[in-house]
This record gives sequence, C-alpha cells and structure tokens, in this order.
Amino acid sequence: MALLDILTYPDKFLTKTAKPVVNIDGALNKTIDDMIETMYNAPGIGLASIQVGCDKSVIVYDPSHGEERKSLTVLLNPKIIETCGETVSENEGCLSVPDFRSDVKRSASLIIEALDRDGKPLKIEAEEHLAIILQHEIDHLNGILFIDRVSALKRELYKRHIKKQLKQNEK
Ligand code: NI
Repeated sequence: MALLDILTYPDKFLTKTAKPVVNIDGALNKTIDDMIETMYNAPGIGLASIQVGCDKSVIVYDPSHGEERKSLTVLLNPKIIETCGETVSENEGCLSVPDFRSDVKRSASLIIEALDRDGKPLKIEAEEHLAIILQHEIDHLNGILFIDRVSALKRELYKRHIKKQLKQNEK
C-alpha cells in the first residue's frame, strides 16, 4: 500500500466529475487500498477518488476515525436517490480545503444506492453525521467542494487567504 497525494484547492482536478466504475480490476483495488491508507494517515473520516487524482467514482469513509475498523466503508458509484426536506448543519472540514471549517446546510437524512467493492449493489439509509459525510464525499465526485456551499463572503475570504499563501510560497 502507498500513501497518495491529496489534491488541495485550487487544483482544477477537484472540479472534475467522476466516471462510473465499470471494471473492478487490480488497479482499482490498489487505488481503493491506497485511499483507505491515505484517509487514515491524514487523518480524515472520508476521502473521495477525485481528491487523489483518480476520476473513477469511489468513496471511502469511517465515521469512527479508525477506532473500529468495521465501520470502514467503500462505495463505488454512490448516488443519492432520496433526501428528506429537513436540513441539518455541522462544522465541516475537508482534506482538500486546508485551514478552513464552516457549517454547511445538508439534508438530515437520505437514501443512497451504490456498489460495494465486490460490485454487489447496496442501499444505504443514513441520517445526521453519516448523512453529512455521504453528502460531502458524493459532492467531491461531482466536482463540488464544501466551500462552494458556504456564503459568498466566507468563500471569498478563504480564496484570498489561499492566494496570499500561494504568493508567499513563490517568494
Ligand atoms: Ni472533503
């Protein structure tokens, strides 16, 4: 297993839309194993393929932060098929958006269809914290970052902060 580089804003690859997985081959399985390793190492509770420069639709997550390996989940081609009207928000962060956290409005519960890593179809009903993780990670597969879902003012401040940092690094 190897650790993968996590792309950060404003890397253009993060705006890409992932393509559906059609073949679960050796290369994909290696990418999945590397994504799991990379997520735990970061440490993070979720990681989407787009964040590591892979455009196949894959997310991995573990709401227990690796305390219970059994809560590690790998989903291929996850799709939200139903959300409820009620919204919740949680202070979110993202490995691709360093130095920034914000509350984001999300659906309080949802139903997802996906494949597990063996290609078996799954239906997942999630609410609260898990529902938020799933919406955050599926957003990545659609080229959306959580800063795209915060107020324009907050987003502008963050962009300015990053621009400043990039300029400082050039010096
Ligand atoms: Ni993220």
